[in-house]
Amino acid sequence: MVTEVAVNRGLRGVYFDTTTASMIDGDVGRLIYRGYEIGDLALHSTAEETFYLLLKGKLPTRAELDAFDAEMKQSRPIPDYVYQVIRLVQKAHPMDVLRTAVSALAATDPDVDDNSLEATLRKGIRLTAQAPTIVAAHYRIRNGLPPVPPHPSLSHAENFLYMLFNQKPAPEDAKLMDTDFILHAEHGANASAFAARVAAGTAADLHAAVTAGIATLKGPMHGGAAEAVMKMAVDIGEEDHAQEYVRHVLESGGRVMGFGHRVYRVEDPRARYLRDGCRRLGEQKGDPKWFRILSRVEDAMQPYRARGIYVNVDFWAGAIYHLLGIPEDLFISIFALGRVPGWTLQVMEQYSNNILIRPLLKYVGPMNLKYIPIELRG
Ligand code: COA
Repeated sequence: MVTEVAVNRGLRGVYFDTTTASMIDGDVGRLIYRGYEIGDLALHSTAEETFYLLLKGKLPTRAELDAFDAEMKQSRPIPDYVYQVIRLVQKAHPMDVLRTAVSALAATDPDVDDNSLEATLRKGIRLTAQAPTIVAAHYRIRNGLPPVPPHPSLSHAENFLYMLFNQKPAPEDAKLMDTDFILHAEHGANASAFAARVAAGTAADLHAAVTAGIATLKGPMHGGAAEAVMKMAVDIGEEDHAQEYVRHVLESGGRVMGFGHRVYRVEDPRARYLRDGCRRLGEQKGDPKWFRILSRVEDAMQPYRARGIYVNVDFWAGAIYHLLGIPEDLFISIFALGRVPGWTLQVMEQYSNNILIRPLLKYVGPMNLKYIPIELRG
C-alpha cells in the first residue's frame, strides 16, 4: 500500500541544503552574492572581481585580483582537438556546441579526476576562461571565418567581444558585457545549478557537473528566454503594436517571455541594471527602437504585477546582445558564460558537505497486474 505523502511538484518552496553563495529575497527583489548587494557589484565591480568574490568567498586585494586575472588570462586558450570538435558539430545550436566542447575539455584537463576543493577551483577558473573561447570560435567557424585566438591582455568581457568580432570593443560595449556577466554569475538553486549539484552529489567531477548545468540551462523556461524576448521584439516590429501583441499572447493562453520568476514576486533586481544599459546602448548605437518596444511591452504587462509577474533578467538582456551585434541563437550561451563561476561554486559547496541528492517519486500507477507472455497478448 502507498502511504499518503505530500508531493512538492517542481520542488517549489523546498530548501534542500544551505549556502553561503547568494541570497534571494523574492518578496522585495533583493539579491546578494556572498553578502554584497547585486546593485553594488553591478555598478562598481568587474566580472573578474565578482568571479573572485564568488569562488573565493571574499573581495580580493589588488594583488589577489591581479594573480586571479593572470590565471584566467593564461587559461583562455583551448586545445586544437576542441577546435576540431567544434568544427564537427558546428551546425548544432551554440548551446549544444558549448556543452559538447566543455565535455570534450575533460579529456585533457590535468585535474579531471581530482574532486578536491583546490582542484575544483582550478578547473572552475579554467572553464570560466575557456568557455568564451569556445563560444566565439564556434561563431566564427560556422560563419566560415578563422577563430580569433584569445587576447593576452584584454579583460574577460573585452576579450569575448574581441574574439567574436576580431576587433577591440568600444569601452561602453565591453562595460555592458561585463555587467551582464556579473548579473548572471550566481542565482541559488536555479534549475541548472541544481542539475550541477545533483551531478556533484554523485561525486561526478566538475566537467560533468558543468555539462549538466549547460544542458539544463538550454530550455526556454530557464536560459532561453532572452532569445525569445528578442524574437518577440522583432515580431512586434513597432512600439505602437506592443500593446496589441501582448493582449493577443495572453488571450491565447501564451506567456510573455522575459516575465515571471519562480522566486521573485516583484521586479528581478538584475533587470534594473540591464534596463538602463539597454536604453543607453540603443541611444549610443542610434537604434533606440528595441528599448522603446520593450518598454511598451512592460507597460502592457502592468496588470500582471498584481499577480507577482514582473520583468526578469532575460527581458532586457536580449536587446542588449542584439545591439552588440550578437545573433539570437548565441544569447543562451552568453548566459552560460556568466554562470560558469556560479556552477563551480555550487559544486564546491556540494563537495564540501556532500550528500547524494535523491528525492522520491510517489507512485500513482496500477498495481498487481498479471504478466501475460507476449504470444498471448491481444
Ligand atoms: N506571461 C504570462 N503569464 C505568466 C507568465 C508570463 N511570462 N509567467 C507566469 N505566468 C502565469 C502562468 O500562466 C500561471 O498562471 P495560472 O496560475 O493562471 O496558470 C502563473 O503565472 C504561475 O505560473 P507558473 O508557471 O506556475 O510559475 P513558475 O514559477 O513555475 O514559472 C517561469 C516561472 C519563469 C517558468 C514562468 O514565469 C515563465 O514561463 N516565464 C516566461 C519565460 C521566462 O521569461 N523565463 C526566464 C526565467 S529567468
